[in-house]
Amino acid sequence: MRKHQVVMLRPLLPEAQQKLQESCSIRIFEQENPLESAVFREWLATAEGLVAGGNLAVDEQLLAAAPQLRVIVQPAVGYDNIDIAACTRRGIPVGNTPGVLVEATADLTFGLLLCAARRIHEGWDFVRQGRWAAGEGFPFGFDLFGKTLGIVGLGRIGAAVAKRARVFGMEVLYHNRRRRPDEQELGIRYADFNPLLEQADCIIVLSPLSAETRDMFGREQFARMKPSVYFINAARGPIVDTGALVEALTARQIAFAAMDVTDPEPLPAGHPLLQLPNVLITPHIGSATIETRTAMALLTADNLLAGLARHPLPACVNSEVNYQ
Ligand code: DGY
Repeated sequence: MRKHQVVMLRPLLPEAQQKLQESCSIRIFEQENPLESAVFREWLATAEGLVAGGNLAVDEQLLAAAPQLRVIVQPAVGYDNIDIAACTRRGIPVGNTPGVLVEATADLTFGLLLCAARRIHEGWDFVRQGRWAAGEGFPFGFDLFGKTLGIVGLGRIGAAVAKRARVFGMEVLYHNRRRRPDEQELGIRYADFNPLLEQADCIIVLSPLSAETRDMFGREQFARMKPSVYFINAARGPIVDTGALVEALTARQIAFAAMDVTDPEPLPAGHPLLQLPNVLITPHIGSATIETRTAMALLTADNLLAGLARHPLPACVNSEVNYQ
């Protein structure tokens, strides 16, 4: 049997990689800036499947270099690095991994808020540095119970975060492109964007990155927030204007920011955000549990195998070109 030519940016987890062995001939290109490499472009010329990743811009230039592509897949729910319209024009379905990462990402997102509010990360440093044993006092955090949480971007992950917040006794406002039919069931209230910024004690951002959401949070938005606000970004770094965030945190225009995503990502050593005391940053680990990453890798493999066989992808972003 002829094997399908597949190019990957990094290997999937072994369970998923094994699923592909029988029918795919896989080439893995793990270096930076792949498109600048003649070898990568040569591989693309014959690739039928591409397993992309967040740092690779899948645009017209890449697609033009890969005329045989039947399918593009990515082990992530986000696909802001992929020009979906361009893929659709070429009839190439794009597979992602929604659903399987909802609970893990919601845990991490709400965990960032809880950790920041109760200063858990600072408490551990305090103990380790011997300051507890030395009798020093530890600064108070604040209660989540009874506070108002504003969620911007309420899809599946946002709904899972809202459920957690309700269990913790929080009021939940949300702002979204579309109102949700299950507001009552979730116990949440819709708010326009500016009122949400003004009323919330804590704000969690979960919107996908797009032309509309890029720099959605800048000077004007931070100025509208309560000075005591805790601001959490678990979506994509460029949704926030990093310079404006640094200014707002430095001037204590807002109290605290916790982020699983940054712009740039990763943050280089010495970046101003790393110098601030009122910041907590994790290295984009929203979905990084064994169970979830395994499920994402397996779904990525299933998407790839389906596309190579010209069968419908189990999870397709541009369903109008999904194979039937
Ligand atoms: C996702 O699945 O989009 C995560 O943010 C990883 O990029």
